[in-house]
Amino acid sequence: MFPTTPPASTPTEPPLVLLVDDDAELTDVLSTIFLHHGFRVQAAHSASEARKALFSNLPDTAVIDLRLPDGSGEHVIEALRRRKGGDAVPVIVISAVADRETIAHIRASGADEYLIKPFQPLELVTIVRNSVARRRAAENLATREAHLQTVRLLAKAIEARDAYTGGHVERVRRYALKLAQALGWPPSQLSALEFGALLHDVGKITIPEHILNKPGPLTDEEARIMREHPRRGAQMLADLPYLRPLVPYVLYHHEHWDGTGYPEGLKGAEIPIEGRLLAVVDAYDAMTTARSYHPTPMSREEALEEIRREAGKAFDPYIAEVFIRLAEQGEI
Ligand SMILES: [Fe+2]
Repeated sequence: MFPTTPPASTPTEPPLVLLVDDDAELTDVLSTIFLHHGFRVQAAHSASEARKALFSNLPDTAVIDLRLPDGSGEHVIEALRRRKGGDAVPVIVISAVADRETIAHIRASGADEYLIKPFQPLELVTIVRNSVARRRAAENLATREAHLQTVRLLAKAIEARDAYTGGHVERVRRYALKLAQALGWPPSQLSALEFGALLHDVGKITIPEHILNKPGPLTDEEARIMREHPRRGAQMLADLPYLRPLVPYVLYHHEHWDGTGYPEGLKGAEIPIEGRLLAVVDAYDAMTTARSYHPTPMSREEALEEIRREAGKAFDPYIAEVFIRLAEQGEI
């Protein structure tokens, strides 16, 4: 959604290696080895073939022979760097030329590695694998950061409508992360957790302001409208593939362990774990900060006491216990 350069292949697709060498026997052998190690390969036997290949597909890594029948490998590197996204593609030059000056010159012109022929094919596979892994890790980090910034912006926009909840979602994100780590959630789930915590009330954007900021109790009709926010939020996210994993946080954060919550009135372990976790941290922050319906916030001890009382009623008793322990240790 956000990367500044188009990814060569999606993370689930085998990485694509562009092999440029006029020695067809060598490219055949290397292609077989790369395919065997889980890569896709596109071979080119001249500079012009390589340029054509670059035009149709941006590789994840390019392996380029320096001496080509119709020009130098350097020109292929230049063509790659000019291509949109090509500046991020690792280049490994392979050549029988072994003098230091040439190697220094080629490195200075943008090659990441220089491998002198003859070389062990497995050595090349290792270099390519490492370079693809580094590139994908950097892309993932950049993409995640870009997403987080956008989601934060949206979360702030939602919060700005509510005079009392400044900083709420950011605290919920922080508490949720600590709680999930204490519960032993795998790191792969923490990204969705952070985004889910930030966007859990995204559906409130559809709630009229006079209901959102009403001092004192809501009428039955107003409460009914307010209680639509989890479902409305989930509907907003369901169509966006990247944000779909956030739906359980948005949809189920007001469910109660004893089945008295909303929107579905699920009970116990029927409630997805994402909703059970968020319910505790969301309620804790709501209790300890001023809200339109309770302008005087509870003390930390009072709020923890309330969570203890509600364990097994509103909250998953185990999650509530871990949260209380974390808070008592000063982690929250
Ligand atoms: Fe909510």
